[in-house]
Amino acid sequence: MVLRADLPASADWRILATDISTLALQRAQRGNYTPAQAAAVPRRFQATAFATGAGPDGDVLRVVDDLKRRVLFRRLNLGRTPFPIRGDFDVVFCRNVLIYFDPRQRAAAVAEFHRLLRPGGHLIVGPSETLLGVEDRFERRQPAVYRRV
Ligand SMILES: C[S@@+](CC[C@H](N)C(=O)[O-])C[C@H]1O[C@@H](n2cnc3c(N)ncnc32)[C@H](O)[C@@H]1O
Repeated sequence: MVLRADLPASADWRILATDISTLALQRAQRGNYTPAQAAAVPRRFQATAFATGAGPDGDVLRVVDDLKRRVLFRRLNLGRTPFPIRGDFDVVFCRNVLIYFDPRQRAAAVAEFHRLLRPGGHLIVGPSETLLGVEDRFERRQPAVYRRV
């Protein structure tokens, strides 16, 4: 929503959305939300990001196709490296997942993010996550925001 609103219409961008849970992926891919869930989305996006339809339990807000077609959903286990993915990514968001990993798995996943990001690209983690021992490969810009060196 942010990219569509803030980049020129001609910009060519895509999102690779991954999770280990096929259920989570199916839900995300469906892109249906209740009005209460969609209320958490900033107002400036609400009118253009959703189309309202009727569901069995009331109104359903469906993410519009123009947004859905930008997102590719794939199952990925971040605990198994190397990832079967190639770069160049501008940004990796990995929020509140590395907290479940042991230090070795966490370091291996962060090394993969480094491989996939273009130089100067950003890694965003959860607000309470700190990546220790990556100072030679990432610059910490602000809490939870790292820049690939
Ligand atoms: C606490 S949720 C965080 C969801 C979202 N990133 C956020 O910040 O709201 C953790 C997510 O990580 C996924 N997950 C757990 N272990 C994983 C793994 N090894 N590889 C990929 N995803 C994993 C779970 O299925 C779940 O969707």
